[in-house]
Amino acid sequence: MEIVYCKNSLRFFRLHLMKSLACKCVGLVVIALVVRAVCLPRFSGYGAIEQSINSFPVNNRLMLNPEVVVDSGKSKFLEVPQIIWGLNNQKIAFARACLTARMLNRTLLMPSLSASLFYKEVDLLKPIPFDKVFQFERFNSRCRGFFQLARHSQVSNTSDVFEIRKGSGRRWTVEKDLEQLTQLRHHRPYDETIRIVGKHPFLWHDHWPVKDYAKVFECLEFVEEISREADQVVSKIREIGLEELRRSQNANGTLQSVPYVAVHMRIEKDWMIHCKKLEQRLNISEICSSKEQTVQRVGNIVGLKTPVVIYLAVADDLLEDNSVVLGGWKEGLVPFEKKKLGVFDMYKKQPYLIQSAIDYEVCLRSDVFVGNSFSTFSSLVVLDRTQRMMSMGVAERCGLDVRWPSYAYNLEGESKGARAWAANMSDLNLHAISYGSNQVSCP
Ligand SMILES: *[C@@H]1O[C@H](CO)[C@@H](O)[C@H](O)[C@H]1NC(C)=O
Ligand SMILES: *[C@@H]1O[C@H](CO)[C@@H](O)[C@H](O)[C@H]1NC(C)=O
Ligand SMILES: *[C@@H]1O[C@H](CO)[C@@H](O)[C@H](O)[C@H]1NC(C)=O
Ligand SMILES: *[C@@H]1O[C@H](CO)[C@@H](O)[C@H](O)[C@H]1NC(C)=O
Ligand SMILES: *[C@@H]1O[C@H](CO)[C@@H](O)[C@H](O)[C@H]1NC(C)=O
Repeated sequence: MEIVYCKNSLRFFRLHLMKSLACKCVGLVVIALVVRAVCLPRFSGYGAIEQSINSFPVNNRLMLNPEVVVDSGKSKFLEVPQIIWGLNNQKIAFARACLTARMLNRTLLMPSLSASLFYKEVDLLKPIPFDKVFQFERFNSRCRGFFQLARHSQVSNTSDVFEIRKGSGRRWTVEKDLEQLTQLRHHRPYDETIRIVGKHPFLWHDHWPVKDYAKVFECLEFVEEISREADQVVSKIREIGLEELRRSQNANGTLQSVPYVAVHMRIEKDWMIHCKKLEQRLNISEICSSKEQTVQRVGNIVGLKTPVVIYLAVADDLLEDNSVVLGGWKEGLVPFEKKKLGVFDMYKKQPYLIQSAIDYEVCLRSDVFVGNSFSTFSSLVVLDRTQRMMSMGVAERCGLDVRWPSYAYNLEGESKGARAWAANMSDLNLHAISYGSNQVSCP
């Protein structure tokens, strides 16, 4: 399947349009058709509406049983197609591959991720090994007893492969998919490797509850290079915050204790087009937030202490004009994005996936996080923060008094502020809490 990543495709077509004014009208029609055709697969994954409707009957869902121990000794392996799209789509796809491997009582062969979003051409696919992004050994030690990863060098007979294609299309139901997996488990236990070909795991049917995904995510830690760059960005933000605090002369503070708010803003044109369509399809009006609405709702969060630095996590190169996001903030909220912060060049050196990973870390560590509940990126940040609070034994998860508070600016909460947001870890469906949803589990 050939898919152009839509964010780039819009720009690409815009360029072409300018070059050939004569073809303007034809161009427009073509753009409309192509973008539509090309964006559908991506967006149906993004919003995953179809998948949500056919989601699995609750009582049939599989639960992770921690007593079953996957033996990594004389392992059998599972190989999956290259994992693609945005960082958090890739994380979900990876987790789904792990859960599938576990169901087949197999060890997952370290998959290839994708460094780039743009892959119209095969050579632009830019595969990147899992262990260039996440720590391999740490994953296996943290996830021992649940999931294990293997390197391709561990396969002893590379011809001993059973290849299977996942079914697709409307008639390929969740039940059929589950049956296929069960059959594989029972009838192909002797093949050293089972290789699933075709669609990448983000598009596979889902059979697992949120807490199983959370278990995989818990074992994922970025490689040190990424953490170090995130450290640099966070210290820049805190340095600036400290200056602001001193200037307003109402605090002493040390660098470590200077709080910051991270706002994951989705205001690029293609997101706006996508979310308007989604609003129509779902008949709800709470998905797209304009910049003005976002700014207002962040400003109205009850109890937010000012002055405070706001870090705007925006996909810079997808924006028409960076300076737009910096204006309009309430007094005491001091907005910064990568350029103003002076970290733009550091980001630019990195491929898309790594940039996104750094931003993810910066959002994750923020004192207050504000995102869009329909965004996969925002949702996984909130899931991660909720999980951290749970592991600290924190019972209360909503509002500014908790350790890692999060908010959704696309939903209105108390006093016209953004609504408090925590992930529902007992939800039976990842989709319900992680992409295309306005459930925020907070009053
Ligand atoms: C799972 O696989 C391991 C070796 O790969 C094997 O020893 C074990 O019996 C299998 N368990 C089940 C329940 O099939
Ligand atoms: C490797 O696997 C193939 C296919 O199952 C088999 O024919 C072959 O004998 C195996 N080779 C060894 C050395 O076991
Ligand atoms: C700043 O520190 C000084 C000395 O430690 C203390 O007296 C003062 O109250 C502090 N100011 C604020 C606003 O915390
Ligand atoms: C959309 O939602 C509104 C209120 O939420 C409702 O009145 C209307 O009938 C809905 N339209 C469709 C087509 O479902
Ligand atoms: C979390 O999800 C479960 C299962 O869907 C549901 O029963 C529960 O009410 C949800 N909790 C919250 C706070 O939304």
